[in-house]
Amino acid sequence: MTRTQVGIVGAGPAGLTLGLLLQRSGIESVVLENRSRDYIEHRIRAGVVEHDIAALLVEAGAGERLQREGIVHHGISLQFADERHRIPLSDLAGGRSIVIYGQTEIVKDLIRHRLGAGAPLLFEVDDVQVHDLESSRPRITYRHEGSAQELECDVVAGCDGFHGICRPTIPDGVLREFSREYPFGWLGILAAVPPSSEELVYAHHNRGFALLSLRSHELSRLYVQCRPDEDLGEWPDERIWEELQLRLGLDGWTLAEGPVLEKGVTGMRSYVAEPMQFGRLFLAGDAAHIVPPTGAKGLNLALHDVRILAEALAEWYETGLTALLDGYSERCLRRVWRAEHFSWWMTSMLHTSDVADPFDRKLQLSQLRYVTTSEAAARGLAENYVGLEAV
Ligand code: FAD
Ligand code: PHB
Repeated sequence: MTRTQVGIVGAGPAGLTLGLLLQRSGIESVVLENRSRDYIEHRIRAGVVEHDIAALLVEAGAGERLQREGIVHHGISLQFADERHRIPLSDLAGGRSIVIYGQTEIVKDLIRHRLGAGAPLLFEVDDVQVHDLESSRPRITYRHEGSAQELECDVVAGCDGFHGICRPTIPDGVLREFSREYPFGWLGILAAVPPSSEELVYAHHNRGFALLSLRSHELSRLYVQCRPDEDLGEWPDERIWEELQLRLGLDGWTLAEGPVLEKGVTGMRSYVAEPMQFGRLFLAGDAAHIVPPTGAKGLNLALHDVRILAEALAEWYETGLTALLDGYSERCLRRVWRAEHFSWWMTSMLHTSDVADPFDRKLQLSQLRYVTTSEAAARGLAENYVGLEAV
């Protein structure tokens, strides 16, 4: 049996950032991850980092490469009806911007930082279980390198993503769950070709949504709306490029193609579990809530949660006061629901389907026209997209 102050389940962006913030307040933690280091460093996911979240990583000492290699963007484009309209995010949102920097790179930076500091981080642990959450000595049991282990903690942080084990451990009847499924998914590719647009392009098209994004000046990240259970086998690279050309194409602009390095399908779901705490277990990030990727909010929300959790734990260890810990869930959920609404709204405005009601399609186009012609409407999108200062 070993002991630590905070036992963290999951080495995604939430778990690793929490570990870093606690370390800076002199609080010990152990991070347990069931996948290999190589796997989590190469799992392609988010790419858009909000202004304040980039600043958080820099302040915490893990943002040096993000500052050097991240690409700052001051706008995005919305495309519909064969027109492309730029939303000047920074002009509309008090000078704030976004940083294009892959989640894979954030995870690599955080892992290197943690291991460099000699802080415990175990990969490939099996059979992780959390116990005695209503006592003052919760425990985590797991297997590592063939032997059974037990970790006694003051607090357990459930940062183990949507399919993790922490949330399901909470007894029936405690959580209220809210969710929405969408009848589509995203087929995403990473391609070795310089992005054809400097800024992101979100496209509404009769054939379905498409998104042009990037990871660097040499790497494009592109998505097309597809079925949630889409068979990748039916999507040879030529078909993907063909769809991207049709959906993103515009007179006088060409989408450059290149070798496809990676492809995958992502389902789309909105989900919130309330409250985000039970006894000495605190859930953070995707373990507690999911948003469809259209608003680029998932990674950012995960880091907002752990910033609040780290602050609350620091106050508790320093003063013994539990006010911030007690209010953790309520404080997080205000931002969570704002992001849930924004992500649902962006998703509903931009996706189409064969069965879409013609009335709905007309409403989408009217909404897109409004957001791209009214400064007041565009400001609403901009301040949500770059991340609201206070919620
Ligand atoms: P995760 O990243 O899921 O990390 C959880 C960790 O826990 C994982 O490493 C997992 O292996 C581990 N784990 C699971 N079960 C166990 C267990 N039993 N024991 C130990 N460890 C366990 N968000 C944005 O903000 N911007 C974007 O542009 C964006 N784009 C996206 C694009 C795609 C294609 C996808 C799929 C997601 C996107 N997101 C985006 C969402 C974002 O990636 C997630 O919200 C983010 O990963 C959440 O971080 P997390 O640490 O909470 O969870
Ligand atoms: C990405 O680059 O992967 C990305 C960008 C914007 C989104 C979602 C994903 O809304």
